[in-house]
Amino acid sequence: MIQRFTDDLSRQNFFACGAELAGVLGLDRDAEGNRIAAWPNDVERFVASIENPLLLTDAWRIGQLAPRQRDTVFKLLESPVRVTEFRGVSLAFEQSRWPGVWGPNVDTLLCCRALGDRGLSNIGSAVELGSGSGFISKFLLAHAPDLSAMTLVDRYAAAAECSRAHVQDARCEVINDDAMVALQGRRFDLVVTNPPYIPRPRSIADNAYEGVDLLAFLTHHGSDMLTKNGRIVTITSSLCAHLFEPMVASSSLIARVLSATEVPLKVLNVLNNASWLEYLIAARGVRCEVRDGYELWHEVRVVELTHRTK
Ligand SMILES: C[S@@+](CC[C@H](N)C(=O)[O-])C[C@H]1O[C@@H](n2cnc3c(N)ncnc32)[C@H](O)[C@@H]1O
Repeated sequence: MIQRFTDDLSRQNFFACGAELAGVLGLDRDAEGNRIAAWPNDVERFVASIENPLLLTDAWRIGQLAPRQRDTVFKLLESPVRVTEFRGVSLAFEQSRWPGVWGPNVDTLLCCRALGDRGLSNIGSAVELGSGSGFISKFLLAHAPDLSAMTLVDRYAAAAECSRAHVQDARCEVINDDAMVALQGRRFDLVVTNPPYIPRPRSIADNAYEGVDLLAFLTHHGSDMLTKNGRIVTITSSLCAHLFEPMVASSSLIARVLSATEVPLKVLNVLNNASWLEYLIAARGVRCEVRDGYELWHEVRVVELTHRTK
């Protein structure tokens, strides 16, 4: 299954490919009438399109499609491999091969869109903290014309291995370690990250979404990781604004919001945990409004941090 997004993320187009053409779309005969069990993977057919997807898998909008299209898209979403394509960058992610690794999601694409719109010239060296599938690094390698050295770091071994498998480029090194210790003494023109950002009392920051440790590290030590004109581009959320904004204010960095997009809160571990959700609502980072098939919303922000004194 291929999900291809337009450059402004206003449309998501779904395609079937390879074995799905015979298995789901019914294209199981060649021109002579012979059985075709599986077409080559690079053969694809358009299936459906949704406008303004709020998530990578926007179940509500998919549910509004005509019944046959709807069911075909849901069937394709069960395919073992999902290819995500945005601005010419393509990544085939196989969740069962990479258990526990965070695949491309809406934050990933919002980050890439903001990076591309902001412009990526004069970046010779870059690092991605928490590289997961490697999509953001692939995007930089494709779109930053001066990039000669790209470092990817993830402390989760399977995620580092997944990054390595997806980003095969002589300019890259992949490190399996905690970004807060592995990069001491190194400076980069660009530090990019889509870090965990969901605060929780007594959080244990050992996964892809819980806690704000990496954001706190970035605000306290980020300027030591930057060259003179370097910048950090990070995802944050209204969920952690009450923590992140004071941390920036007391740091040696200044923040500029590159984009802010309201999306449904869809991390099920949070939605199904009443006390965690209550805490987030009390901290005012969640908007409760039944709309477009979702009831809890937060704002995903792409923020640029640069040296306060330049
Ligand atoms: C939300 S996922 C983002 C994955 C990928 N960059 C993307 O946008 O699709 C966060 C990633 O950060 C990693 N991570 C969290 N804290 C880390 C740390 N201190 N050092 C290195 N990696 C970390 C997690 O293992 C996870 O892969």
